Parts: sequence; C-alpha cells; structure tokens
Amino acid sequence: MLIQKMLHSAGMLTLSALLGGGLVAFSFEVTDQQIQANQRAALLRGLNEILPAERYDNDLFTDLSYVQNQTLLGTEKPVIVYRARKAGHPVAAILTPSAPDGYNGEIRLLVGINYQGQLEGVRIVSHQETPGLGDWIELRRSKWILNFKDRSLQNPLSNQWLVKRDGGIFDQFTGATITPRAVVKAVKNSLLFFQSYRDQIFK
Ligand SMILES: Cc1cc2nc3c(=O)[nH]c(=O)nc-3n(C[C@H](O)[C@H](O)[C@H](O)COP(=O)(O)O)c2cc1C
Repeated sequence: MLIQKMLHSAGMLTLSALLGGGLVAFSFEVTDQQIQANQRAALLRGLNEILPAERYDNDLFTDLSYVQNQTLLGTEKPVIVYRARKAGHPVAAILTPSAPDGYNGEIRLLVGINYQGQLEGVRIVSHQETPGLGDWIELRRSKWILNFKDRSLQNPLSNQWLVKRDGGIFDQFTGATITPRAVVKAVKNSLLFFQSYRDQIFK
C-alpha cells in the first residue's frame, strides 16, 4: 500500500515537472518569436522611412544578400543589403554599413540608394556617441541626417563630401566634428561601394 502511494506521488511529481518544463519551454519559444517579430517590425518601419512601402513590391526580408568590404563598409563582417524591386525591376538597395571611427566607436547606419545612385535616405541604427554632443546624428535629436536625401557622388562632387570644417558642405556640430565627419565618410563610402557593385547586388 505504502509502495503504491509512493509510486503514485513520484508519478505525479514527474508529470508536473514535465508539464512545468514544457510550459516554460513553450512560453520561451512564444516570447522569442514575439521578440523576433517585434524586431522585424521595427526594422521594417526604419527601412520604410527610407524607402516608402509603395515604392517596391517584394519582401525585403527574403530578398536580401550579404556583402563584405571592410574599406567601404566599415567592418570586416558581412553586411546585409536589402534589395527593393518593383515588378521584378531593381528600385533601390538599403545597405547596413558602419562608420568605424565615431568618437566612441562604431556607428551603425541604414543607407538607402536608388538604382540611379541617389540617396533615398540615411538613418542611424546604433551608436555610443556622447549625448548632447555627438547624438545630433539621430533624427529624434535633429534633422541633420535628412540632408543626405537625394545626394549622390555628383552632388556634391567627390572632394566636397566632407564636413565644412574639412572644406566640404556638411555641417558639423558645435564642439563635435568627429561624429559627423565619421558619418559623412561612411555615407560617401556606401555610395562608392554601390557604384562599383550595383550589378552584383541586384543579380
Ligand atoms: C567627454 C567628451 C565627449 C565628447 N564626445 C564627442 C562626441 O560624441 N562626438 C564628437 O564629435 N566629439 C566629441 N567630443 C569632442 C571631441 O573631443 C573633439 O574635440 C571634437 O569632436 C572636435 O570638434 P571641434 O573641432 O568642432 O571642436 C567630446 C569631448 C569630450 C571631452
């Protein structure tokens, strides 16, 4: 009788442990999927700020590829390039390069370039620049980043792709030239990369 009772209790314990474990694993899986879905939605909002959804009809998340070029993309790691197409024709590429030489290290960017080589827009994905000094690169802090829209390697000419302090056309910030200098260089390098590899990108 006692043995039967003990076996019953042990069985119940095992069952509840299994159920509990299963429940934790299930909710972890659901939470993980939810986080991934949220991150994807946030990224898509960022991509669509640069390139409005009506400009393309493909799925950017499945039509992506990886490119690698430390000199022009600022990192030795492979960099994602999202390819936007409409009715099968290339519309624009959104590159995800880094400016390696920010004041506090790497600044990660989204750089949208249309097939003709004009900038659709630039946004900052992440940085560790100093609040109040270097963070004017963020759209929520200032409109500085919008100044890249419609520019290309012909506008301004190559030797003008610099901050004003260095003889170019882009504003620096008061007391903070290093951050905007790094971003201007990274955007120009993205245009140079696109100019050289456009056809491979859209293959
Ligand atoms: C604590 C501290 C934080 C700074 N953070 C930044 C920064 O985030 N971005 C930046 O460009 N300059 C930053 N600076 C200023 C740079 O050291 C440098 O002086 C400046 O970028 C040069 O620009 P200017 O020639 O316009 O003065 C910081 C300076 C200090 C002391």
